[in-house]
Amino acid sequence: MKIDGKATRTIWVEADGATVGIIDQTLLPHRFVAAKLATLDEAAHAIKSMQVRGAPLIGAAAAYGMWLALKADASDEALGHAYTVLHATRPTAINLKWALDEMMAAVRNRPRAERALAALTRANEIAEEDVAINQAIGRNGLKLIEAIAAQKKNGACVNVLTHCNAGWLATVDWGTATAPIYMAHDKGLPIHVFADETRPRNQGASLTAWELNKHGVAHTVIPDNTGGHLMQHGLVDLVIVGTDRVTAQGDVCNKIGTYLKALAAADNNVPFYVALPSPTIDFTVSDGVAEIPIEQRGPEEVAMMTGKTLDGRIETVQVVPDGSPVANYAFDVTPARLVTGLITERGVLKPDRAALKAAFPERA
Ligand code: MRU
Repeated sequence: MKIDGKATRTIWVEADGATVGIIDQTLLPHRFVAAKLATLDEAAHAIKSMQVRGAPLIGAAAAYGMWLALKADASDEALGHAYTVLHATRPTAINLKWALDEMMAAVRNRPRAERALAALTRANEIAEEDVAINQAIGRNGLKLIEAIAAQKKNGACVNVLTHCNAGWLATVDWGTATAPIYMAHDKGLPIHVFADETRPRNQGASLTAWELNKHGVAHTVIPDNTGGHLMQHGLVDLVIVGTDRVTAQGDVCNKIGTYLKALAAADNNVPFYVALPSPTIDFTVSDGVAEIPIEQRGPEEVAMMTGKTLDGRIETVQVVPDGSPVANYAFDVTPARLVTGLITERGVLKPDRAALKAAFPERA
């Protein structure tokens, strides 16, 4: 998508042909800084520290991390080590394992001398595929927005609520939840987004708001607890969120707090859609609550907040009392029964086993 008119992606191979460029998302929204990854360890650190984050981008970054590793050492041992190191970075987004398995399949049976080039080729393909998939998600989700817009009186705008950042910053480009929104906006449909701030890391306030702002999409940042109130008052037409893993039966794992939004949506008859690329489907698990590992991150993410002071300095402050224990579960699971539909690159699906299997037989 565009930043101040310049087409930009979240990850790219640098002109030196040897390193990988990323946007350091830990510094947004107040500083836009690109960083270079030159080694396996730097790629792993970028994923773990959330310089890059969002399920599809984690997958793409891991793919390029494999390339960086194989460029330095193409032995079987190095290949296995790179897989293990990258796989350990974040446990919940299944796109990570999917991308690593794709990379393994692309290089494993090749002579050592060919492995690095094969890895770069497959990593580039994974990045391009992500862009194409998200565009297809956008086209499919756009139809839902258009149907709602057609029922509005006097051209009133469609209000979408989203949680966390499933925008282009979470993918290689376009985003998943945001792809239909950008397409609606670009087509001239009146659209407005409520962006949940998404404590503790504030991906909604820091990232979703930043990218919607850069693209000129009308939006309002709301505290995480506001969505239910807005829905009770008819101010939300639909919810669209992203996901880190969808199970074979259609349960949806996404950023902590998504489940509460789904409950509020169900209670208020607000359609609750989940946008996902097929690499986010994990056909090996069924019951998301019981089977998906939920990442727990450091207490400092809850206890501390970083922001810009009135005089323009970036400061980190503590927001809980000294000594108070905190819990930091990064994701939760929304059962399929609360999901209206899954917006995929192959259409809007019912959140159930039969529909997922029929749409993606090669994965099932
Ligand atoms: O912890 P994060 O920021 O990586 O979590 C991101 C999310 O939960 C997104 O909603 C999800 O990855 C979908 S991204 C298209």
